[in-house]
Amino acid sequence: MSEGILLAKVARGTLLPEAARVARLQEALPQIRAAVAGETDEVALQATLACLLWETLAQANWCGFYRRVEASLLAVGPYQGGMGCLRIPFDRGVCGACARTGLTQLVADVHAFPGHIACDGATRSELVIPVRVGDRVVAVLDLDSPHLDGFSPPEARILEDLLACTFR
Ligand code: SME
Repeated sequence: MSEGILLAKVARGTLLPEAARVARLQEALPQIRAAVAGETDEVALQATLACLLWETLAQANWCGFYRRVEASLLAVGPYQGGMGCLRIPFDRGVCGACARTGLTQLVADVHAFPGHIACDGATRSELVIPVRVGDRVVAVLDLDSPHLDGFSPPEARILEDLLACTFR
């Protein structure tokens, strides 16, 4: 029986200062790595990361994966939070930009991002990170926050490393 991860309780929606968010992520990281160690099934990995990152990232109102289901199309995968849009073409939204370019998208204010898809009108910032298997982008991790500037470059780097180690 798995018990999730051990972290101090922080109310959903709380934006801790950046240093505290990074420390919380660092504290969660070995527990997340242990939870997925040895697992190779992509859905099992995505579902478990969505769950544990949701527990860790209190500033998020959405946390989950979009999977590449066609050459230029994403479909929603395992997630936590309110209902997300089901399909995102590569030429739309922050997730599409990430999948198309293969580059992490750190968007401090989604209202300033042309083509942002507002699944939840409360969302103000977003972090989207590509998931690669070999050289191919097979999915993206999408994190949304109702706070402006809800995610930072150090958090993005930590999550990039986690994804690179988890999906191969
Ligand atoms: N905001 C995203 C769409 C996905 S949902 O917000 C869950 C985007 O612009 O790609």
